[in-house]
Amino acid sequence: MKNDFGMFTLTGHTAVVTGGASGIGLATTQLLLRSGAKVIVADINEKIGKEVVRSLRTEGKDLEFFHCDVSDERSVTNLIESINKKEESIEILMHFAGIGLEKMVIETSLDDWNNILKVNLTGTFLVTKEVAKIMISKKYGRIVTMSSIAGMRGGSGRAAYGASKGGVIALTKVLALELAQHGITVNTLAPGAIETELVKKMHDEETRRAYIQGIPMQRYGTPQEVAMTAVYLALPGSSYLTGTVFPVDGGFASSGVMKNDKT
Ligand SMILES: NC(=O)c1ccc[n+]([C@@H]2O[C@H](COP(=O)([O-])OP(=O)(O)OC[C@H]3O[C@@H](n4cnc5c(N)ncnc54)[C@H](O)[C@@H]3O)[C@@H](O)[C@H]2O)c1
Repeated sequence: MKNDFGMFTLTGHTAVVTGGASGIGLATTQLLLRSGAKVIVADINEKIGKEVVRSLRTEGKDLEFFHCDVSDERSVTNLIESINKKEESIEILMHFAGIGLEKMVIETSLDDWNNILKVNLTGTFLVTKEVAKIMISKKYGRIVTMSSIAGMRGGSGRAAYGASKGGVIALTKVLALELAQHGITVNTLAPGAIETELVKKMHDEETRRAYIQGIPMQRYGTPQEVAMTAVYLALPGSSYLTGTVFPVDGGFASSGVMKNDKT
């Protein structure tokens, strides 16, 4: 373990957060900073990413922004080269860069399919591959990938999205096996419905009603509720947890027939 006395703090750790400019990635960036980590936000949205970094810096936080398209190999290697010039190591990698799509399979074009897989699955592969090389050299790392409940259960309109997130679960398990010998843990989050920009675009009223009927907590989650699990997995003390899928879903993955007490 890197620091026995620092099991509940991330002081001295550097975290790369892809998709850190918005939604779950932004909430996790804020919580990592509060836990003492330095954060490198890597996002395709330069305008919002720079604004976020500027505003958090005014609060005295230690973070930087790098433009990166996780689906583009050159952009990913540029990111890693830029980080390497400034940082001695990367202890934490969080993957939140992702895009959504709700389309029935017969309406899904090959372009739709390729776009979703390229960002959600290939992007996870490209970034992890490069960061893992750095972590291996230091014999320490915490990697958190982003799956979804859509990667575990079938959902209408989730052909491309669900396949990309199911792929992330398989990739996470392989990474966990290959990297365990180097002191690196790799786990994945499988959130249910979380109130973010992505969900505003993906969920119409019918989807919202259908979702809430199946969620024991009867509400959508917040980005902060997912960030809590992500940061827990980034702690030095989470050293014996690897290859695991964490549904953060208000009980959705466990639910069956539900009777709600209306009293
Ligand atoms: N919101 C949910 O209900 C939910 C549920 C399960 C899983 N997820 C997953 O969580 C992750 C974050 O989603 P969110 O809901 O916070 O969405 P969001 O749209 O608020 O944030 C996604 C971020 O990823 C960035 N991004 C998109 N494409 C990129 C690329 N090619 N390279 C780099 N950055 C890119 C965006 O600019 C944005 O900042 C996604 O992988 C999503 O699939 C979300």
